[in-house]
Amino acid sequence: MRFQGKSVLITGGAGGIGRAAVRIFAGEGAKVMVSDLSEQGCKEICAEMKDKGYPVEYLCGDLSEKAYCEGLVEHTVQTLGSIDILLNNAGVIPRGNILETTDDMWFAAMNINLTAVFYLSRAAIGHMKAQGGGAIVNTSSTWGVYPGPGHMAYCTSKGAVAALTKNLGRDHAPDNIRVNAVCPNEVNTPMLKTGFEKRGLDPEKAIEQLNLTVPIGRIAQPEEIAEVMAFLASDAASYIAGATIEVSGAKPVY
Ligand SMILES: NC(=O)c1ccc[n+]([C@@H]2O[C@H](COP(=O)([O-])OP(=O)(O)OC[C@H]3O[C@@H](n4cnc5c(N)ncnc54)[C@H](O)[C@@H]3O)[C@@H](O)[C@H]2O)c1
Repeated sequence: MRFQGKSVLITGGAGGIGRAAVRIFAGEGAKVMVSDLSEQGCKEICAEMKDKGYPVEYLCGDLSEKAYCEGLVEHTVQTLGSIDILLNNAGVIPRGNILETTDDMWFAAMNINLTAVFYLSRAAIGHMKAQGGGAIVNTSSTWGVYPGPGHMAYCTSKGAVAALTKNLGRDHAPDNIRVNAVCPNEVNTPMLKTGFEKRGLDPEKAIEQLNLTVPIGRIAQPEEIAEVMAFLASDAASYIAGATIEVSGAKPVY
């Protein structure tokens, strides 16, 4: 019960990695606020958790809106009593090189993947500092640290999330607020599968091929990323701050 009594806000909580994180944190004693664009998804994961007796609430909305981001942190504090842990997990993946990237694709990547993390972290750190500490886990990507091919806006936004993480980790370690990021390579979630579908590929066959490219023998399951987030947010990671942790099955980006 690593998170007994802790209040946790998880963005993208209705997605692949997000749902896995909600299950881990709620299962280990946390009060959880789920944020997601998908009301249906929020209802599903909250109903699943409530069936188990866990205190999980949701506030759905669009993270590209500043008012929603800032209201979300206030709503979490009002509803759960505090905000001890923030998982900035929501994300979108516009696909294309610079010539294929429209203004809308660029601003979607920047607004949702990066600027929302700025708004949410700023609001949360204000509360965490006042209450004497907290933990933030951001979701960058190995493609943020080493740009993957043909995803210019996505990789740029995730590279900025890694830089933001190191800045916040440095600035707020003295406030007893640890800020770290997880950098996954490919994970078996709707984000990955919809990409294959858009390219006209059978997602299950494509994943079988992708598994062959990973030294550990397979792409990650969402739980394997959520477990690293939980570790980074937990007291077991008490000396890890301002770090970006690659969770890649040893697969290099090339
Ligand atoms: N799946 C991968 O291979 C992979 C690899 C590296 C990093 N990541 C990162 O992991 C995180 C989680 O991704 P996932 O794989 O679980 O994807 P996912 O698509 O399953 O989940 C992402 C969630 O974010 C939500 N979201 C998207 N736009 C939003 C908005 N404007 N407002 C509010 N919510 C919004 C979606 O509704 C969705 O539920 C993302 O930041 C992603 O970039 C994923």
